[in-house]
Amino acid sequence: MKEQVEQPIILGIESSCDDTSAAIVRGTRLLSSVIASQKVHELWGGVVPELASRAHQQNIVPVVDAAFKQANIRKEDVNAIAFTRGPGLLGSLLVGTSFAKSLSLALGVPLIEVNNMQGHILANFVDTDDATAHPSFPFLCLTVSGGHTQIVRVDDYFSMTVLGETIDDAAGEAFDKIGKILSLPYPAGPHIDRLSRQGNPNAFTFSRPQVQGLDFSFSGLKTSVLYFVQKMQKENEAFVEENLADLCASVQYTIIDILLRKVKKAVKETGIRTLAIAGGVSANSGLREALKLWASHSKVDLHLPSLHFTTDNAAMIAVTGYFKYTQGEFTDQSATATARYSL
Ligand code: KG4
Repeated sequence: MKEQVEQPIILGIESSCDDTSAAIVRGTRLLSSVIASQKVHELWGGVVPELASRAHQQNIVPVVDAAFKQANIRKEDVNAIAFTRGPGLLGSLLVGTSFAKSLSLALGVPLIEVNNMQGHILANFVDTDDATAHPSFPFLCLTVSGGHTQIVRVDDYFSMTVLGETIDDAAGEAFDKIGKILSLPYPAGPHIDRLSRQGNPNAFTFSRPQVQGLDFSFSGLKTSVLYFVQKMQKENEAFVEENLADLCASVQYTIIDILLRKVKKAVKETGIRTLAIAGGVSANSGLREALKLWASHSKVDLHLPSLHFTTDNAAMIAVTGYFKYTQGEFTDQSATATARYSL
């Protein structure tokens, strides 16, 4: 094994869901980032696990190769390999995990396992030319993705406490499932975001869930949109097409309102006035605008990740790998992928 260096070159590999990604960092500085998104799932209206694993197998070698070329780094120069061990789809995780283990053996460099949720939060520390200041500890992070919705108290790179999370669907899942009801392609989040800009957020009102503490719930919203749409379609078959932008804007407004209420409560209860957001839904333009507006009024120090690092990506895995490398936190070859992996 190579000896530990101060500015290690880390290769990150991410394959937890439907994006195959590889990235290389030197310290926290991003040298390259390549993502192959899998279009095959659009046909089925959601991620098909078996198809995802097969696509990862096809993509992983070219994606890793492209990351080395983009960074202008030789494989022999790598000091460690970080990979997503979980949470996610088991078959998908197995591809990245097995690939990382084999390459680490071949190159004689250490392996570092990374929790995808920790990676999303630490995406806020990836250094690029357009990176803004990093959040200072302690901060709160609203992690909103297709599989998770959490408010996390982050005391340092390794000390994270989940203060609240969804008790049913995740925020991204709500966007995607409601998008399906509205006949939008998968993943529907970006389509709802785009269409919302032309719609009236107050056109339709949907009820908010009454959930205790800092937990969230989104499945009731999905059901109320479904029943509402079915009722309206009985009177007018073209109801969805004729009101699509207003429906999207009203749904998006409701999801943002649910998220914002809990964020405000978390800030009040913890007294922590630094907030970051992470995960695929943190790309939502309405959510970003609403948070900016509230943060500027409430004197909250808000950190919005660059759009490149909102959805699953290996840059966040590589940078988390760097922080673990500095602590000597390595993983041995017996590590296995795990679908469930808490922070
Ligand atoms: O973090 P992510 O890439 O990984 C998974 O958890 O799979 O998040 C994907 C989720 C999807 O549900 C997608 O619809 C949502 O993020 N998403 C968005 C936007 N961009 C992606 N939701 C709302 N607005 C967006 N602009």
